[in-house]
Amino acid sequence: MLRMNNPATDNTQAAPTQTAPAQETPAQAATTQAAPTQKTSASKKKQITVLVGSLRGGSFARKIATQAIELLPEDCTGTIVEIGHLPLYNFDYDDPEVPDVQTPHSYTEFRETIKDSDGILFVTSENNRTIPACLKNAIDIGSKPNSDVSWKHLPAGIISHSVGRMGGYSSQKNLRLALSYFEMPTPGQPEVFLGQSPSLLDDAGAFNNDKTRDFVADYLRRFAELMR
Ligand SMILES: Cc1cc2nc3c(=O)[nH]c(=O)nc-3n(C[C@H](O)[C@H](O)[C@H](O)COP(=O)(O)O)c2cc1C
Repeated sequence: MLRMNNPATDNTQAAPTQTAPAQETPAQAATTQAAPTQKTSASKKKQITVLVGSLRGGSFARKIATQAIELLPEDCTGTIVEIGHLPLYNFDYDDPEVPDVQTPHSYTEFRETIKDSDGILFVTSENNRTIPACLKNAIDIGSKPNSDVSWKHLPAGIISHSVGRMGGYSSQKNLRLALSYFEMPTPGQPEVFLGQSPSLLDDAGAFNNDKTRDFVADYLRRFAELMR
């Protein structure tokens, strides 16, 4: 999978808001290119595909995703898989009754990457009280064909954020709804809503406080448990 995304503008605010326990975990490599891999054996690291629900160059979601990759447990490795280049979903691409329309190579590649993953971590912002279109598009692409749904049974972790106080609550709930058909196990609690996200990050894009770092690390441990 390929591609870095486009810059844009943004608004910011301040002040953290979460609760939770946990300890820090070791860092893992964060890359921004997809890397299709073989399904892992018990001795290999679990391959976590990280999908970011923002195409903006300065995206806080992307910074949070990069932090999350570093906080994954030692037996996991995470990779941000780009979704901004995927054509808008059109069932003609998959419809055997429309044989003159070929499935885009980028769809096939994306689907294979998802299926080769041990788990999917979604890190998303909120657009108009739901998930950004790029993420919904990726979910739709992975949901077809019906006989070979890419998402099926893969453990999913979800982190939402917003620059406001609600932490992308509605986005996260809508994401859960969109995934509800695919029987993807997710950690029950806690749910991770990172409110006022710019205030949680330093100038280099790293979490600037232990409370947030520990909270996210604890969540990722629970997520990783679903792959054991
Ligand atoms: C089209 C659009 C719709 C938005 N809708 C919401 C919204 O419903 N709720 C919210 O909290 N923020 C909303 N925002 C503000 C975003 O949360 C904010 O721009 C955030 O920084 C985007 O995430 P990113 O930094 O990961 O790109 C919206 C922004 C855009 C551009």
